[in-house]
Amino acid sequence: MTLTEIIETFKTKLNPSKIMDSLERTASFYDESENGSLGSDSDESDSGGNESGVDLKSNPYSSLASGSVKSSEAARITRNEKEPLIKLTDVWKIYQMGEVEFAALKGIDLEIYEGEFLVVLGPSGSGKSTLMNLLGCLDIPSEGTVFLNSSDISELAESELARIRGQMIGFIFQSFNLIPTLSTEENVLLPLEFQEEDVQLARKKAAYLLDIVGLSDKRKNLPSQLSGGQRQRVAIARSLAVNPPIILADEPTGNLDSKTGDYILDFLDGLNKKEGKTIIIVTHDLDIVKHATRVVYIRDGEIEKIEIRTKNESEEIK
Ligand SMILES: Nc1ncnc2c1ncn2[C@@H]1O[C@H](COP(=O)(O)OP(=O)(O)OP(=O)(O)O)[C@@H](O)[C@H]1O
Ligand SMILES: [Mg+2]
Repeated sequence: MTLTEIIETFKTKLNPSKIMDSLERTASFYDESENGSLGSDSDESDSGGNESGVDLKSNPYSSLASGSVKSSEAARITRNEKEPLIKLTDVWKIYQMGEVEFAALKGIDLEIYEGEFLVVLGPSGSGKSTLMNLLGCLDIPSEGTVFLNSSDISELAESELARIRGQMIGFIFQSFNLIPTLSTEENVLLPLEFQEEDVQLARKKAAYLLDIVGLSDKRKNLPSQLSGGQRQRVAIARSLAVNPPIILADEPTGNLDSKTGDYILDFLDGLNKKEGKTIIIVTHDLDIVKHATRVVYIRDGEIEKIEIRTKNESEEIK
């Protein structure tokens, strides 16, 4: 490698627009995959003839095997447009601490539909993360009902719930929830392992996603060897691994500088607008509201109001 090449490589590595470029590639990333798998039958599957080797220009999500992830629950959604994807009715979450009870959520009613970009906005301690855990079916309510794709989650066996959740929801947690003993690449691979993805294909997908978030050169690093923003990007890559129809994010920009945060949000915006993915973000960051199609204001465990947003104007409905 010549000195000029080394400098060029260095420059592109440091240039945030490189990250953006790669993030933008997700558009084709999902476009291609939808053609083959989500539509109807797999009448056309081989899009490039580049079967061997990890060529990052090729999209592993366009191959046949992504159909295994898009099957059943995820595919059902497209036929169920009028049904909410997630529905909460009179949901309470009460934490017990010894003798003391604390109601973190108090009677939440909320329906979330396919294609929404929903922002749940509220101050620290208002119940956002608690709500996210319930929306993501990671926790069960103390009272009330949570429906995921019309199924009452309390009636599903844990293994069945885990399977549906794994197919339908990509999580970006406030604290990243990366496994400290696993490398960047292994963390991204994790959800694919739960889906019993073919190992070779899973590796291609992980490599592709790490390229998309600009972390190909960090794939062997442990989380402790990454910056906060890099960890967040690993969490995002991981959330996209199974190509889920719903992305649930808890303060996705909380640990990022504003520029990187904007890239991430534009990226999620692209997934919503171009791919019709349902994005749910819980945050206290008012800036995120501009991306929303609907804003749920939460305070002290209750919904204060809900706003529907159409471009620059918003209409209060509650
Ligand atoms: N396991 C728990 N046991 C007892 N109380 C809890 C527990 N988890 C959360 N809480 C309380 O429930 C309330 C809501 O917490 P939650 O984490 O949902 O807030 P949040 O809106 O996400 O805040 P932040 O913006 O700071 O992340 C807080 O008052 C918190 O102290
Ligand atoms: Mg929180």
